[in-house]
Amino acid sequence: MDDLAKGGEGETQESGPLEVRPDCYMVGYRNPAALLQCNTYLRSFQGAGGAVHVCVDPGSRRDYPEVERHICELVGDVGEIHSFTLNHQDPDVSGNAPLLCDANPNISGVMSEEVWRLVQHLDVRPKRLHFANTERSKWMTVGDRFRWQVVPTPFCHFRGATAFYDPELRTLFSGDLFGGFNRLGLVRLEAQEDDWLGVAQFHQIYMPSREALRYAVRQIRALDPPVEVIAPQHGFVITGDLVPLFLDRMDSLPVGLELFTGQLDQSCLDRYREILQRVLEVADEVMGAEDVRRRLSDSEPRDNLPRFVSVRGETVRLEQQGYTAMALVFARLARGEPPEFANRLRDTMLQACAQAEVPVPPIGLGVAEGVAMDRVGSDGIRME
Ligand SMILES: [Fe+2]
Ligand SMILES: [Fe+2]
Repeated sequence: MDDLAKGGEGETQESGPLEVRPDCYMVGYRNPAALLQCNTYLRSFQGAGGAVHVCVDPGSRRDYPEVERHICELVGDVGEIHSFTLNHQDPDVSGNAPLLCDANPNISGVMSEEVWRLVQHLDVRPKRLHFANTERSKWMTVGDRFRWQVVPTPFCHFRGATAFYDPELRTLFSGDLFGGFNRLGLVRLEAQEDDWLGVAQFHQIYMPSREALRYAVRQIRALDPPVEVIAPQHGFVITGDLVPLFLDRMDSLPVGLELFTGQLDQSCLDRYREILQRVLEVADEVMGAEDVRRRLSDSEPRDNLPRFVSVRGETVRLEQQGYTAMALVFARLARGEPPEFANRLRDTMLQACAQAEVPVPPIGLGVAEGVAMDRVGSDGIRME
């Protein structure tokens, strides 16, 4: 079923329905041009009366042609899906839910009440609705013998976010939790250890607090039987020894509010200074030292960089707020440059931050092709 093709930089790219476990496939679109992959899963429960097909996080409307093709390859028609679950209501998770409802007028939807309150505004109209709130129900039963455990992961990243645990496959469908960015063109299914960098960066951008992550990690560690596979809504499926390793790392990852504290910034300043030097080495090599310093000392764009970074002759010095400053340095150096250079710069920064054990600045690119990005546009709007 898996369709393998050689991708860029000698990496193997995967497409088509990708088997996660028996009767469980990742049916989302593996997009080699994107830094954030959206995962949709199709789990088929084989019973005496025939199979019951459940779609986990139907995915982005933009990816629908691929999702539809993969589902059809597995079960013949999208209308064969009996039920869908939603971790939360974001468009990359729920965009295709209305299309599943159109394809099967008898479909049911499973999500927390908090998610339903918002997602109904997307015109999601399942025939039946089941609330996945543990105060009401701790288990979701499919057919007469399959059960999924409802695992609340509040504020990861939405208040009513809900993961689902399949004890038979020992697989946790975790939504954005444990999701991550990939390197450009690297779109295989299973995680490797250094994919943690993309996971850490994604969480540092989207998760609101370390306490929320710790609560979720406690819930996951308590699952019985123990989790063997974490299947998130973005990036790579986590298996084997990486499951306990990534759980440990998640438990101590500073995210969200913790990243805004000045104390953290001061304690990390020296390490960010070293990271800046490593980034400058790469940029100097490609762009030339003069161009690099001109870009960093320019009065445009008005992004406040001179408050954080001083440029005197050849010397570039980080003065304060390394986390914020590094994101601005990256934006200035990568602006208008080919993606290969931006990716090299991003990789350098990610590696350096991981080695120095400091929070990864928000340097993930997510701009769609064909969308003009500028601080000043002919639309009369100026962002300062
Ligand atoms: Fe989300
Ligand atoms: Fe997401």
